[in-house]
Amino acid sequence: MKELSRLLGRIPGSATMAVSEKARQMNAAGKDVIALGGGDPDFDTPDHIVAAAFAAIENGATHYPPSKGIPEMLTAIAAKMARDNNVEVDPSSQIIISPGAKWALHLALSSVTNPGDEILYLEPCWPSYPPMITLSGGTPVPVSLSPADNYTISADAIRACVSDRSKALMVNSPNNPTGRVMTAEEADAVVEVALEHDLYVLADEIYEHLIFDDRRNISLAALPGMAERTLTINGMSKAYAMTGWRMGWLAAPAQIVGLANKLSSQTISSAANFSMHASAAALNGPQDCVAEMCASYAKRRDFMVEALNAIDGVHCRDIEGAFYLFPSFPGSARDSLDVAQFLIEEAEVAGTPGIAFGSTSGSHIRFSIARSMYDLERSVERLARVAPRL
Ligand SMILES: Cc1ncc(COP(=O)(O)O)c(C=O)c1O
Repeated sequence: MKELSRLLGRIPGSATMAVSEKARQMNAAGKDVIALGGGDPDFDTPDHIVAAAFAAIENGATHYPPSKGIPEMLTAIAAKMARDNNVEVDPSSQIIISPGAKWALHLALSSVTNPGDEILYLEPCWPSYPPMITLSGGTPVPVSLSPADNYTISADAIRACVSDRSKALMVNSPNNPTGRVMTAEEADAVVEVALEHDLYVLADEIYEHLIFDDRRNISLAALPGMAERTLTINGMSKAYAMTGWRMGWLAAPAQIVGLANKLSSQTISSAANFSMHASAAALNGPQDCVAEMCASYAKRRDFMVEALNAIDGVHCRDIEGAFYLFPSFPGSARDSLDVAQFLIEEAEVAGTPGIAFGSTSGSHIRFSIARSMYDLERSVERLARVAPRL
């Protein structure tokens, strides 16, 4: 048989999906694994959003929509960006709607990358970034941030990784997996280097609404000099508990959106029509559901950070946003793959090994707190029971 795709052969599968799959298989075999590996909210999509989808289907939104998205959703996104992000975009030329933020990231990377271009990303990072860069023909270049200073972004750290082939920098705040929220000083550092080296910036704001303790999201596209070089990626999955609806978007200068639209229209055609109608209802409708879910994640964070730190041998930083904890196990000689394996087998608690988030995270495990308090309480009890053997 002839050789299959070398490019696809080179990229890893999704680590978080692998953990969730293992938990699913163990549960199917009669175990009681608490799955803290994935990033899927335990809330159901709010009723008024579901009702809008049913109404859309009944009203015939079951046909091909325009490839960039339906006008109602494009307008809702532009209004949301003006309202929440202080970013003005033209709905007809500067937004493309995608099946999930994941595809929006792929569109963004594919639209700016030529073979051999280096794409910088801040590490620890969501595990899909490096393979996505490779798939777009670019070379992934990690900018490693250190747990010693709570993963602070500095201009010097980014600058040290810039070369004359650098094309773009990917930034994710609130961050998966660290839970950090970018400060004004850190945003300034990103802007400084982007302007100095003429870099595009991909701003992944998917956890924008999940921020705790009066912090606020800073949208890089709103900062001086950044509108023409920022590609903002966002979506409905996390804030509105809509992971299965597959709904995200890319907002960027018109020329970039034009290229992204060629890729979408030649591959997936568009996102799902009725998902867009439901999402427009979500963005235009009452936002208390988002605030309520965020408040619930904050409570779970408070409980979990304290409970994990009370276990001997576990160290867990407080988090500022998103819904993941990223504890380490200072006394253990095991690496994160080994710890994850031990925890799923001995405690029946599934977490994602830190190594999936970058080379500097090898002693950490990521636990999602988008699970019920009941599951979180049980997982802490189990962790406390096995910790002495870690
Ligand atoms: C940082 C980050 N970006 C993007 C996504 C993609 O989200 P979706 O494709 O569900 O919109 C995720 C999902 O876990 C994420 O953690």
